[in-house]
Amino acid sequence: MSDYPYNRQLVLFRSGVWDQWTTDLMKILIIGNGGREHALAWKIKQSPRVKRIFVAPGNAGTARDAENVPIQAEDVPALVKFAKDERIDLTVVGPEAPLALGVVDAFQAQNLRIFGPTQAAAQLESSKVFCKSLLRQADVPTADFQVFRDPDDAMRFIKGRFPGERDRCPVVVKADGLAAGKGVVVCKRRDDALEAIDRISRRREFGKAGNQIIIEERLEGQEASVLAITDGQTIVPLPPAQDHKPAFDGDTGPNTGGMGAYCPTPVVDDDMMAWIEEHVLVPTVHAMKRNRKPFRGVLYAGLMLTPTGPKVLEYNVRFGDPECQPLLMRLKSDIVDILEATVDMRLGEIDPPVWDPRPSICVVMASQGYPGEYEKGRPITGIDAADALEDVKVFHAGTRMEGDAIVTDGGRVLGVTAMGNTISAAKLQAYTAVQKVRWSGGWCRKDISDKALQLS
Ligand code: AMP
Ligand code: GLY
Repeated sequence: MSDYPYNRQLVLFRSGVWDQWTTDLMKILIIGNGGREHALAWKIKQSPRVKRIFVAPGNAGTARDAENVPIQAEDVPALVKFAKDERIDLTVVGPEAPLALGVVDAFQAQNLRIFGPTQAAAQLESSKVFCKSLLRQADVPTADFQVFRDPDDAMRFIKGRFPGERDRCPVVVKADGLAAGKGVVVCKRRDDALEAIDRISRRREFGKAGNQIIIEERLEGQEASVLAITDGQTIVPLPPAQDHKPAFDGDTGPNTGGMGAYCPTPVVDDDMMAWIEEHVLVPTVHAMKRNRKPFRGVLYAGLMLTPTGPKVLEYNVRFGDPECQPLLMRLKSDIVDILEATVDMRLGEIDPPVWDPRPSICVVMASQGYPGEYEKGRPITGIDAADALEDVKVFHAGTRMEGDAIVTDGGRVLGVTAMGNTISAAKLQAYTAVQKVRWSGGWCRKDISDKALQLS
């Protein structure tokens, strides 16, 4: 080690080979700043094919595992310019907002390679009316629904459908457009539905997203997330996962972006998965192609497992957050091969992904007050101690560096993710890691993955 000339010689010798190599090694840009994007950076970093990874704008975790770039995820022109200037070989889009803004179209117009659906195809998530019409046309099972433009018509429909039944109104009212998960109201009483129509359609709480409104049948059952990667010709289903959207234990409290997830979930067994592939994923991909909006990227079906079979609640057009974290922890294959094959439309030519058979779970640690108002800037300790545990990775979501300290910078702060031989073992390991992490007001749900245990 201390032998200077040898060292030097070694470096000189290497650099010749290295230069040749580096021309083939890739520079990758990830767009976004959540736990999903940290998981993507962590997984992409394991690829021997990559030399630099940038995350725009990233968080304190991606600053460690990659290089942060101070460009917001919605600033499409600045992202295009960065990718051109840096000669980025492949860009991966994390969140839905840039996809809905057409980031993929903008990159493709400049011959830049990017993983994700075009703006037209991203309507599957950005317009619930588009999604429901496509599902109906493709004969994919989903809740019965009606679309309204006029709030008076919508209110008349509710009153006519449930005359004199103030306390029973099993419907869900949805704003058409993106509303950060807040544009969906699951109703019990008639007044819930009338108020939701008023807020979305009259008071315009979600702006243009409320131009159209959907009223649909309320479904009952367990929810599951089935994600697939597709290049429009081949579909690669990923193992089924389950999210935990309500804030508190036992699925109580207000809805959040997701308080934890685990994978695989036994609520979707192999037979059901095969059924979902045949009746949900395949017809959707075909219908998108027929509609001249071929879908490329992650197709994420949010499903309700009803007594009459799985039904699509919604489609997302990107990895789920937090589902991405436990999914990627189990992926053994090189993710860059998969992403690249999707962009190049040769997904059918590569080997199917290999998964670690062990289950994994992700527990989201959140700021005091989330999903309501919360403070930022609280110092976090114990992340390294948690990371040092076997089969644990702490993915950052709402964090940033302040000097040498990691401080909170969002509602969902960390996604503490662990693998184990069984779901119970993975759960124990994740919560052991959670206990090492501290900040003032930090909290989490204590029952992530218990839905799986209830089945066994
Ligand atoms: P979405 O954004 O459409 O997935 O809706 C968000 C959440 O609302 C879902 O995860 C479900 O918990 C709930 N939800 C949406 N649609 C329905 C429905 N038709 N019946 C029951 N719950 C629903
Ligand atoms: N986990 C829910 C979502 O990503 O939308």
